[in-house]
Amino acid sequence: MRPRSGESNSPHVSLSSTRLTRRGFLGAAAFGTALAVAACRAPATVSPPTANAAASSTAPATPTAAPTALAAPTTAPPATDTTVAPTATTVAAAATVASSTAALTPTDSNVDAEDETPSETEGPYFKANSPERASVIDAGVTGTKLTISGRVLSTRGQPIAKALLDFWQANAQGSYDNAGYTLRGHQFSDAEGHYQLVTVVPGLYPGRTRHIHVKVQAPNHPVLTTQLYFPNEPRNSSDPLYNPKLLLPIQDAPDGSKVATFNFVLNVG
Ligand SMILES: [Fe+2]
Repeated sequence: MRPRSGESNSPHVSLSSTRLTRRGFLGAAAFGTALAVAACRAPATVSPPTANAAASSTAPATPTAAPTALAAPTTAPPATDTTVAPTATTVAAAATVASSTAALTPTDSNVDAEDETPSETEGPYFKANSPERASVIDAGVTGTKLTISGRVLSTRGQPIAKALLDFWQANAQGSYDNAGYTLRGHQFSDAEGHYQLVTVVPGLYPGRTRHIHVKVQAPNHPVLTTQLYFPNEPRNSSDPLYNPKLLLPIQDAPDGSKVATFNFVLNVG
């Protein structure tokens, strides 16, 4: 675990030509308290380990996608940022992502250039070669289940298919799995730009407010590196990296888990 200074000093991928943005921000006023509590306990919504799987053994045996670049960035990113993209051979798996495509039209007319998702620093904990999967909850992971759904769109509101989304985050106790791939995973958007991440609410660690890291890359475009934040967090006001444009509209689901919708908006020209 490292303080904020570690993240601030880490390579910052300045890929201004590609960005993410959120849409449909639904501030959940009562969520802050619940969220803070959630970081400190293990709700029943996430199954405890059913086997003797230690945290270090939760990493997938072999990532299904060997990270050769999906699309060569037009701007060469730092060395730590070059292996985000898995092979295109796994693109077809993106079809497993979307379970809610029927209600959405292909183009979102409410999106424009102002919705372009801002970039953020990568931080020190990114690992290449994450497994391809929509759920990053491995055996042994505890915490409040969180499902983030949305689309990858252009600033014209057009869906971006086969966009790479690579997520990584701390566990509910505020620790990253730097030995394996627990709470790490990548996926591809489907034909209408849909993605869905199933994870747990990340815990806090010194120097940072609650957040989830993500890299998003449209085919043949640069990687956008950014972070997603949580509403009503006391540390949002003191974390210099916090950006309200990256706020997840967290809501309570009937089953006790948390849900949010977030669209990444990329300036892909
Ligand atoms: Fe972090």
